[in-house]
Amino acid sequence: MSIDISTPGVDAVAGRSRSLMADPGSAGRFGQFGGRYVPESLVPACEQLEAGFREAWADPAFRSGLARTLSLYAGRPTPVTPTLRLSAELGVTLLLKREDLAHTGSHKINNVLGQALLAKRMGKVRLLAETGAGQHGVASATAAALLGLECVVFMGQRDIERQELNVFRMQLLGATVVPVHSGSRTLKDACNEALRNWVSQVDETHYCAGSVMGPHPYPWMVREFQRVVGEEAREQCAALLPQGQPDVVVACIGGGSNAAGTFAGFVDTNARLVGVEAAGGAAISSGAPGVLHGYRSRVLQDENGQILEAHSISAGLDYPGIGPEHAHLADIGRAEYPSVTDEEVVAAVLRLARTEGIVSALESAHALAWVLREAGTPQLPTDSTVLVTLSGRGDKDAAQLVELL
Ligand SMILES: Cc1ncc(COP(=O)(O)O)c(C=O)c1O
Repeated sequence: MSIDISTPGVDAVAGRSRSLMADPGSAGRFGQFGGRYVPESLVPACEQLEAGFREAWADPAFRSGLARTLSLYAGRPTPVTPTLRLSAELGVTLLLKREDLAHTGSHKINNVLGQALLAKRMGKVRLLAETGAGQHGVASATAAALLGLECVVFMGQRDIERQELNVFRMQLLGATVVPVHSGSRTLKDACNEALRNWVSQVDETHYCAGSVMGPHPYPWMVREFQRVVGEEAREQCAALLPQGQPDVVVACIGGGSNAAGTFAGFVDTNARLVGVEAAGGAAISSGAPGVLHGYRSRVLQDENGQILEAHSISAGLDYPGIGPEHAHLADIGRAEYPSVTDEEVVAAVLRLARTEGIVSALESAHALAWVLREAGTPQLPTDSTVLVTLSGRGDKDAAQLVELL
């Protein structure tokens, strides 16, 4: 007997209030940010995708099919784990939303299963992805294998060297990994190549963006696919905490998808929302408004508007832009975007491993590093309750850590 895991089941996330993080409309604007800045040849593809997503997202059968796939295949809901020793050491109650326990080891699978099911519904046969840390590439290769789609992943040569294990995993899953040798040979260059490739094969190909970036509808669509993280966490916190909700909600920021999904669950509560950037890739605090990869946001750039190279120890965070909705949330003061250094991040990986027995991804450790630095200060007073989204697990970073430690 064969059971279709994406046939309609119960939809846990449908029909909730949308509040601040709402549908950005047909222009895809978040305040002064977002929009669609693409070559003319890509406009019809973006419009077709927006129409396809709007129709699918309003269709209870699609929503419940996705929820069922997330549950039966990807292992949702992921738990919220209260830390024991670390909370006692820090003097704050620290809870972890465990996206490291989702299938393929990070939150990326939520978005990719959504996009792959949508691509299939729209009659596409090929998934095109870009990846930095490789987690999005692995998730894309996984979803393509599950749904019988061809998969091509663009990855900067420098990231290929940093994330050897994930390159092998993608190939094992049947994907073609295309090395990108231009520029800084990292995520930004992989995005350029992926967009160029999409232009050339737009009819049969779905461009599967890895974060809340790119032209409209990507930032909105990816946030909606990641909303499940925040919605689940909110319910889980309500069941775990006497006061019902955390005081502070923290997530790391590369393009910003795990943070957007997490924040979407808490934006209409009193919780402070904190997105933690890498000090060398802090597009919100060090960037200025500009256009990159088809959208307007805060971007690291020089005085002539040339894109600057970002730096981070983690391949998933050295990206010079940030999802446009985050730039807007910063503008209106609803979310804060501090940054942490590589050294703080490595220390955070070690501290979590040794106090709680959890090895987090370097990306996720940015969120944790902020908590470790600020616990007991006016930023994060003693006795606060903090939820950190642990976006992924650290296996992929083991080789890099061996060299660093
Ligand atoms: C585990 C993990 N966390 C976070 C990120 C950053 O992406 P985003 O900001 O879109 O969540 C990545 C990106 O590769 C990742 O692999």
